[in-house]
Amino acid sequence: MEFKAIVDTKAKSASGCAVVGVYENGELDPAARLIDAQIGGIIGRIMASGDFGGKLGDTLLLPHPAGAAAERVLLTGLGPQAGFGRKQYRKAVQASAQALLKTGSADAAVYLALHEVPGMESHFRARAIAEIFSASAYRVPDLKSGAKPKPSKLAAVKVAAENARAVKSMTAGLQIGAAVGTGSALARDLANLPPNVCTPTYLGERAQALEQESPRIKTKVLDEEAIRALKMGAFLAVTQGSAQPPRFIVCEYRGGKKGSAPICLIGKGITFDSGGISLKDPPGMDEMKFDMGGAAAVLGAVRAAAELELPINVTAIVPTCENMPGGRAVKPADIVTSMSGQTVEILNTDAEGRLILCDAITYSRRFKPAAVIDVATLTGACIIALGNQVSGLMSNDDALAGEIAAAGGRADDKVWRLPVGEDYADALKSNFADFANVGGREGGACTAATFLGKFAKDLEWAHLDVAGTAWLGGAQKGGTGRPVPLLVEFLVHRARRK
Ligand code: BES
Ligand code: MN
Ligand code: ZN
Repeated sequence: MEFKAIVDTKAKSASGCAVVGVYENGELDPAARLIDAQIGGIIGRIMASGDFGGKLGDTLLLPHPAGAAAERVLLTGLGPQAGFGRKQYRKAVQASAQALLKTGSADAAVYLALHEVPGMESHFRARAIAEIFSASAYRVPDLKSGAKPKPSKLAAVKVAAENARAVKSMTAGLQIGAAVGTGSALARDLANLPPNVCTPTYLGERAQALEQESPRIKTKVLDEEAIRALKMGAFLAVTQGSAQPPRFIVCEYRGGKKGSAPICLIGKGITFDSGGISLKDPPGMDEMKFDMGGAAAVLGAVRAAAELELPINVTAIVPTCENMPGGRAVKPADIVTSMSGQTVEILNTDAEGRLILCDAITYSRRFKPAAVIDVATLTGACIIALGNQVSGLMSNDDALAGEIAAAGGRADDKVWRLPVGEDYADALKSNFADFANVGGREGGACTAATFLGKFAKDLEWAHLDVAGTAWLGGAQKGGTGRPVPLLVEFLVHRARRK
């Protein structure tokens, strides 16, 4: 989908559909008022008759309205005028995208970004339109045998701006939103594919294929032998029960100066987490195919950085394998030596994410990174703490944590900081190794992060626990693409800082 910001204060753009907003009290937004005048007051009469209430999330399509420049007008409910904020704005944009995609429109003129939204500048209003329209057009890679649903025709979206200055800021916002869209689409595809398709080998191939999208992407995929040569004993312990070979993926985007320190994004790539010998309960185990959501997101972020040609270096690092039981599987009480030399007593084989991540963090040191951010569907405890709306953030660096939290706020991909470090270290004490891989049930998200922190000493490091946000369960089961919006916003901000 192509996005373009244009100056249009008269609602005069010719297109397949004009998208305008109306409030719950019957009040029309400025563009709706202009179009209402063009088409003889129909919108006002529809509102007065009670046929459309302007409820947030509702839409009404007016086909072939005589007098309008567009072939259709889509009325989008904005809810009550008082209290209209960024949440309501995003919901209205989403409802309009879903309704629009069901029409035959090949192009559209969207007037919703003309609205003032408290705390949301035009740049971010435009960004949200591109991001949400792209996400709405996303279709899961299903393996259903029936006829495929027709892809929507919508190919071009014009976004109306007040003046040339707004066009400039909105153009940048639209580009970022569209890149978040392509990055999230990759992340969602990888997450949604079944675990017999999306294996570690497959993830390596998809990361390799990113080289085709940009000459600035270079991917290296290490096999088991190479992983062994690096002495990644913790990672190898997790993969040893599986028939699928592991991969260690290094996907570099080089947009910055040669030698300038990269941002390392490490993604947990467990393509299926059965729990191993500490086997999980059957209900919901299928959702453990999403346990590579962190890996999917960091690859998506690299794809977006390349699309935006950001002038920075970004290195995605993905340790990927399955966590399976079996005669060769790692057992509770096994002790392994991590790449860092620190030994770990594996008390619970279901706490596997931290074991593959710790070796990836150690590996990242060779890049002398400006910052290391790991992204992982790490703990059920994080879901209990924060639910499915907000991801957990832990860091050993206040400035980095602040930067990430702010990026999450601007991108509407929120995180909340949780404690990590010394206070939780006692829980990981082991009589036989340097430390254990699990603490007790209490503060599980914090002890998991504390384990990772032991490998991140002297690095500027942050950890995002996306267990609650990387996918949705139930009827809407599927990958969300989070935290791609946050990561891209963070990278954009870093690129500007230079
Ligand atoms: N992948 C899971 C975390 C998870 C669980 C994410 C449920 C989303 C939904 C992780 O590998 C895991 O199993 N964690 C354990 C850790 C425990 C054994 C200390 C957990 O959270 O139960
Ligand atoms: Mn697990
Ligand atoms: Zn896991």
